[in-house]
Amino acid sequence: MRRAIYPGSFDPATFGHMDMIERSSRMVDELVVAVLNNSAKIPLFSVEERVSMLEEITGHLPNIKITSFQGLLIDHAREVGASIVIRGLRAVTDFEYELQIAQTNRTIDSGIDTVFLTTSLEYAYLSSTIVKEVASYGGDISKFVPKQLMDKIYAKYR
Ligand code: PNS
Repeated sequence: MRRAIYPGSFDPATFGHMDMIERSSRMVDELVVAVLNNSAKIPLFSVEERVSMLEEITGHLPNIKITSFQGLLIDHAREVGASIVIRGLRAVTDFEYELQIAQTNRTIDSGIDTVFLTTSLEYAYLSSTIVKEVASYGGDISKFVPKQLMDKIYAKYR
């Protein structure tokens, strides 16, 4: 059983995340999408909301499980039995940070490898931060996030 973990903040999930989830889920038997519960940051959505939104937008995919975690990603990867970490690279600016995290994680546990997928070109510019910025001014976010999430995002700024 090949199981991978795709961690992130997903605050909120975007089409860029969906692209990564759809593509990486085809490479493994099970993909665990893991939402970071980071007490150091104040998110727009609670961890429960983010988990529930991810469940909603990945419902059509057969081999996805959504979890949340606090603390080290490697500990959660071990907990769920994942030996692969999936991360997306949008541009060269992501690389330095991602390389540092991947190498740290591999030093902690050499049995868990990070696999990078390059984000599809059409979403290379996209981030949760951009979605929040546009939504906060009432702009159109239909090209950025699945339609099931649009009202939930706008509601946060009403
Ligand atoms: O979507 P993000 O915010 O870019 O995701 C970052 C994430 C969740 C992958 C990263 O912050 C993370 O793994 N945090 C958990 C703490 C940890 O294990 N850090 C790596 C060792 S320094």
